[in-house]
Amino acid sequence: MNKTNEFPKDFLWGGAIAANQVEGGWNLDGKGLSVADIASYKPNIDNKDYAAHMEISTSKIEEAIADKSDKWYPKRRGIDFYHRYKEDLAMFAELGFKTLRLSIAWSRLFPTGEEEKPNEAGVEFYRNVFKEMNRLGIKPIVTLSHYEMPLSLSLKYNGWVERRVIDDFVRFSTVCFKEYDQYVDYWLTFNEIDSIHRHPFTTAGIIPDKCTTGKEEQEVYQALHHQFVASALVTKVAHEVNAKNQVGCMLTKLMTYPLTCAPLDVELTLNKNLENHFYTDVQVKGEYPRMIEINLENRGIHLDISDEDRRILKENTVDFLTFSYYMSMAESGDPEAERTPGNTVLGVKNPYLPSTDWGWQIDPKGLKISMIELYDRYRIPMMIVENGMGSVDRIENGEIHDPYRVEYFKEHFKQMKEAIDEGVDLIGYTSWAPIDLVSAGTSQMSKRYGFIYVDADDEGNGTYNRMKKDSFDWYQKVIATNGASL
Ligand code: BG6
Repeated sequence: MNKTNEFPKDFLWGGAIAANQVEGGWNLDGKGLSVADIASYKPNIDNKDYAAHMEISTSKIEEAIADKSDKWYPKRRGIDFYHRYKEDLAMFAELGFKTLRLSIAWSRLFPTGEEEKPNEAGVEFYRNVFKEMNRLGIKPIVTLSHYEMPLSLSLKYNGWVERRVIDDFVRFSTVCFKEYDQYVDYWLTFNEIDSIHRHPFTTAGIIPDKCTTGKEEQEVYQALHHQFVASALVTKVAHEVNAKNQVGCMLTKLMTYPLTCAPLDVELTLNKNLENHFYTDVQVKGEYPRMIEINLENRGIHLDISDEDRRILKENTVDFLTFSYYMSMAESGDPEAERTPGNTVLGVKNPYLPSTDWGWQIDPKGLKISMIELYDRYRIPMMIVENGMGSVDRIENGEIHDPYRVEYFKEHFKQMKEAIDEGVDLIGYTSWAPIDLVSAGTSQMSKRYGFIYVDADDEGNGTYNRMKKDSFDWYQKVIATNGASL
């Protein structure tokens, strides 16, 4: 391969956001409640304990529905992108973005998920956003489901546990493909589809106390199966609506290393990595891996998978693969091994790696290894659609100096370039997140990812004004030089 300092021609540099973490306007213009609107922020919880932040029950949902304010529900206010999207898109254009990954809030188009026709005001909002992006020359990469299904589907059907939700999702997605056809070429079906096991409510609307069978794990896997089928069906529709549409799947790449070369550590690590690849195996290869099916049966999990489902999966595989990468973990057979938090996981601490303020282990080399591993396994174009570090930023004399963020990205970009030079077909990169937003895991604002600062705190106080951090100029230069200025 011909090596230059630059990334491939037409490389899609950009950033990624999700509707529920930025928009706000949770009850405006006909939007229905989504599962994200009841995610609460709890000030006294250890900020590393994502599980405590994400705890859910029917009574907690009822309490949240009764509370009409956004005080303890930060995703209801986001960063007010609903009203400020032009200002934010202008800043992304100034950064030189070729692309922006964003999501559509299902409940803005279908408030309960079950309407026959979409809410016109919701359709109009995204049309205006895409028009503006088009004017600025920023290509959208649109995620159809990023942690915010209509709450009504969750309460009525326990979310994706019931098969009928597939039809509701196909109806919603079909409207998106048709309405935004002239603006959007790249679509992603489910954000981090694997995360259903780590937070079943945010991902699939599953409320643990609604499990009637006493087999919660089985219900989660069945819901996942419904999402796989839905993903394949909407891939088919996207291709029928317009052959130029490219549809991708999206994985949380959880790279795991053995803590030692003890064979048990290696075996446990192998199992972790096989499990992580199961989701992309289904969506890229169109079938369940044999070892996963046997493993599920051995665990007493019997899924309802029809021959028709298998045919749909096989005939409608994705065009490209995308993944998020934030950190890596280790695995060990020693139950006493020290653990550290990662992206909604608790893994064994790797003594060779530093960590962020939230304990996520920083591992640029792990990104290169992930890229090589995934490309070798699937051989289809790939995009990294989330990567970044959450940190505490401080304003000093009206400026924000964030050399740690620059360092994080620089080291990851170097590893990306190495993987590309070794043959990986990487077509795009969107950082998480170009602007500060509400954390998915902890609903904090103080866990900041952006090149752009937003003046708001965890309880919603602040002007919400935007301000550039030092890293803004750095990323702008990286894009302007197509990666040559690293
Ligand atoms: C990814 C999600 O898992 O991680 C994003 O797709 C999320 O929505 C990101 O924001 C970072 O996680 P957190 O919990 O720090 O916001």
